[in-house]
Amino acid sequence: MINFQIQNPTEILFGKDQITQLPTKVKEYGTKILLVYGGGSIKGFGLYDKVIELLQAADCEIHELAGVEPNPRLSTVQKGVQICKDNQVELILAVGGGSVIDAAKAVAVGATYDGDVWDFYDKTAVAQSALPLGVILTLAATGSEMNRGSVVTNWELKEKRGAGTTFPSFSILDPTYTYSVPKDQTMYGIVDMMSHVFEQYFSHTEHIQVQTRSCEGLLKTIVEYAPKVLADPEDYDARATIMYAGTVALNGQLTPGVETDWASHAIEHAVSAIYDIPHAGGLAILFPNWMKYVYKENTDRFKRFAVEVWNVDPAGKTDDELALAGIEATRTFFDQIGAPSRLADYDIKNEHLDQMASHATRFGTIGGFKKLEKEDVLQILEMSL
Ligand code: NZQ
Ligand code: ZN
Repeated sequence: MINFQIQNPTEILFGKDQITQLPTKVKEYGTKILLVYGGGSIKGFGLYDKVIELLQAADCEIHELAGVEPNPRLSTVQKGVQICKDNQVELILAVGGGSVIDAAKAVAVGATYDGDVWDFYDKTAVAQSALPLGVILTLAATGSEMNRGSVVTNWELKEKRGAGTTFPSFSILDPTYTYSVPKDQTMYGIVDMMSHVFEQYFSHTEHIQVQTRSCEGLLKTIVEYAPKVLADPEDYDARATIMYAGTVALNGQLTPGVETDWASHAIEHAVSAIYDIPHAGGLAILFPNWMKYVYKENTDRFKRFAVEVWNVDPAGKTDDELALAGIEATRTFFDQIGAPSRLADYDIKNEHLDQMASHATRFGTIGGFKKLEKEDVLQILEMSL
């Protein structure tokens, strides 16, 4: 295990009706609020009205940044930064999924910075301060509710980039708010959280049994509960399990002291910067192909994955057969929950593969498990067509 130091300051308020604590929470940080939300799904199931009612009861001055896009745009973030600066906003409240939260994080760091917020994403500046941020999560997927990552797309440059920004001060996680998430988005969330675990599980670091078992337990739980939420969107216990799984998968506690990978995410960001496809749609296609491309770097890890996560019977199988059976089981599971399997499912052909491979490797090799050069990425993209 590698030496590590971890700290996560986000306060989680988990469970049904935790929103009743919103007025008290808000008052801890200030009452001039920027409410950030997406395309309006929160109005469809009454959450918007509830939030407004509670904020008004707490005598808040409410400003709004509405219409945050899935794969949030820099231009939207810049609008939010301006609203904060013009109105001396004291607290940002994000109500939505990963896109809304990521945009709100960008606004939070941009509002206390004199330059352009994109500086944090193209790594010419590091966020030193931020407005406080509260979150009300409506979609289980990214883990953004309990980490400091934020991913924003600069549409003019065709660049989708992540940055370390700011942790939410508090996040309200009420599983009933995810009842209305459509089947495809529920599936995408499941693929995304599983992918976050994969990025951390496939590692060469040794003596990481706590982290390894935690990853395997989390993956098995997601695999067990995914069919339940897909079959019955209002199964509270299943929604709660999947919601908490998404948070645990990427809140920094799962694999401290482990060298992680993240190449598949880098490749996916390069794809969705050009094609604007759902993040996890890209991951569902790319991840099994990445696995096939890299497994020989550490076949033992992939054998273990097959046996421990997918219950593959090792009897009579060679090392390669066992490793490949685990990868096949991953693909089969993604197929069963309705995830896409080829770039062609999004009408993506081979015309921009070179551009995407260059983009993914523009700062050098990617991935901790196998260091991928542009040519490697190109091959994984070709396998994914
Ligand atoms: O726009 P609204 O109306 O909110 O609708 C959204 C959107 O259309 C809808 N939705 C959300 N909650 C709903 C709902 N529909 C009905 N009922 C509800 N309760 O779902 C659609 C997708 O929302 P989005 O926020 O885009 O999804 P997700 O949470 O998957 O976030 C994806 C973004 O997060 C980034 C991705 O790259 C992508 O931009 N990521 C962020 C990470 C992080 N900050 O740590 C890590 C991830 O790996 C990922 O890269
Ligand atoms: Zn992801």
